Amino acid sequence: MSIKAIVFDAYGTLYDIQSVAEITEDAFPGYGEIITQVWRIKQLEYTWLRSLMGRYEDFSAVTRDSLTYTLRTLGLTYRRGAFDTIIDKYLNLDLYGDALATLATIQDRKLAILSNGSPDMLHALVRNSGLDRVLQATISVDACKAFKPNPAAYALIEATLHIPPADVLFVSSNPWDACGAKAFGLNVAWIERVTPEAMALACVESAVLPPLTFFKTIRTQMDELGVAPDHRIRSLSELPGLLSPT
Ligand code: 2OP
Repeated sequence: MSIKAIVFDAYGTLYDIQSVAEITEDAFPGYGEIITQVWRIKQLEYTWLRSLMGRYEDFSAVTRDSLTYTLRTLGLTYRRGAFDTIIDKYLNLDLYGDALATLATIQDRKLAILSNGSPDMLHALVRNSGLDRVLQATISVDACKAFKPNPAAYALIEATLHIPPADVLFVSSNPWDACGAKAFGLNVAWIERVTPEAMALACVESAVLPPLTFFKTIRTQMDELGVAPDHRIRSLSELPGLLSPT
């Protein structure tokens, strides 16, 4: 492998998305953990749903919409200020402890980020964390208006760095991203930020939120996708009442 460039995913790979938990807990005591998890699940889901719907909105909008969904679904009322404080953490996420030092030691290759993040989010994040000193490029999928794992997103690496996929190592902790990049033709390193051992331990130790409640929270409430059904009903028996007489 003649690797000429190493390209990193941002959220969850270089930056710890769980680092929003302190702020969500401060804003909504007792709810920090559930907000943090539902928010991320919905954020990614909305990138894929919007892609399939052909209704691209940038990651900044998707991140806001998924937080709106999360707070609404959990029945939390809030002031605009609290919402903005939580959102702002996305511009100041904690770097993983191994990120800056490692990137500093591989400066003989081109280093870049390829992320779903919008350009404004990514540039603030990279500058605030000091990664601008070690990266040659920060590539946002916004340039092609398609989220990873759409092949068009991974094609931005060659378009930007002028290095073919065979000479690029792509690094991501997100399994779906690692698979998407591999399917596209990049060399891929999947970083297991959560090891199977840690996963097994977490299952033993946690019993905080019943799985059914978690499922209901993420899969049964109306989404924030900028469109709404015409009718809301609670029983099929309401259907005849929606129909005009023939
Ligand atoms: C990224 O940084 C969303 O984690 C994903 O592109």
